[in-house]
Amino acid sequence: MGEALLSRLIAQKIYQASEVIVSEPQQQRRRVLEQQYGVQVTADNRVVALETSVILLAVKPQAFDAIAAELADVVATSAVESPPLIISILAGVPLSKLEAAFPQLPVIRAMPNTPATVGAGITAISSGSHTKSSHLETAQKLFSAVGEVVVVPETLMDAVTGLSGSGPAYVAIMVEALSDGGVAAGLPRAIATALALQTVLGTAQLLHETGMHPAQLKDNVTSPGGTTIAGVAQLERAGFRSALIAAVEAASKRSQELGK
Ligand SMILES: NC(=O)c1ccc[n+]([C@@H]2O[C@H](COP(=O)([O-])OP(=O)(O)OC[C@H]3O[C@@H](n4cnc5c(N)ncnc54)[C@H](OP(=O)(O)O)[C@@H]3O)[C@@H](O)[C@H]2O)c1
Repeated sequence: MGEALLSRLIAQKIYQASEVIVSEPQQQRRRVLEQQYGVQVTADNRVVALETSVILLAVKPQAFDAIAAELADVVATSAVESPPLIISILAGVPLSKLEAAFPQLPVIRAMPNTPATVGAGITAISSGSHTKSSHLETAQKLFSAVGEVVVVPETLMDAVTGLSGSGPAYVAIMVEALSDGGVAAGLPRAIATALALQTVLGTAQLLHETGMHPAQLKDNVTSPGGTTIAGVAQLERAGFRSALIAAVEAASKRSQELGK
């Protein structure tokens, strides 16, 4: 996820390569990142904290405590002159924990999703108590490099996780199942998957670009006594809608449990 952000931030000139320092433990990865993106690299996280005004945390959540301890002194010292903005994409790490690790600093918690890796993500961001509107703008600009951005109160982050965070898995299952349906109806697998994938992609694009209500699109394509209403009626009998609603609720609840 860190590299997805890095590559697009540079490609879209949101930051110049010379403005970015990447901390990465593996020497081989450092070499690749340096050559590919022209950024400065280091194996020392404190270098990033000392020399930049925005610190993006993109490590696994389990690594947070160790990294926070490593950065605490450096960040506190540099904060005297100009407090750096800390942005975390660590799933399940709440603002309270970020603010306890970096007292008095502006902190933003962000939740991007996997399509961000191809620039088609959506990121929800929440502000900490020392965050000003300029910090929020910085985070919005940063995550706009990998897709859309919404601002939510942190109390809604579990719901975001259940919908856009876990959602790519639901949609992937839907594409697979549509392809299976095509094969069951006689299509070769490759053609069935291509039809399924482009139908999901194209429908999402149509809804996105026109702003049409999903129910309106469904009504537009269901002619009386036709094929589509026969398929829709079967989806309703199978509880398709309820299954999706329950999936988002279950994932949100699980996110709540994991955050405790
Ligand atoms: N992937 C997603 O779709 C997604 C969505 C939402 C949120 N997130 C969050 O994003 C974060 C990163 O996830 P990811 O999937 O991108 O994981 P990842 O591929 O494992 O990336 C973590 C990176 O951190 C580096 N790292 C490990 N220990 C470090 C240390 N002590 N100091 C500095 N860098 C260190 C790793 O380097 P090495 O590989 O060389 O060890 C790796 O480059 C997680 O907290 C996750 O919850 C991810």
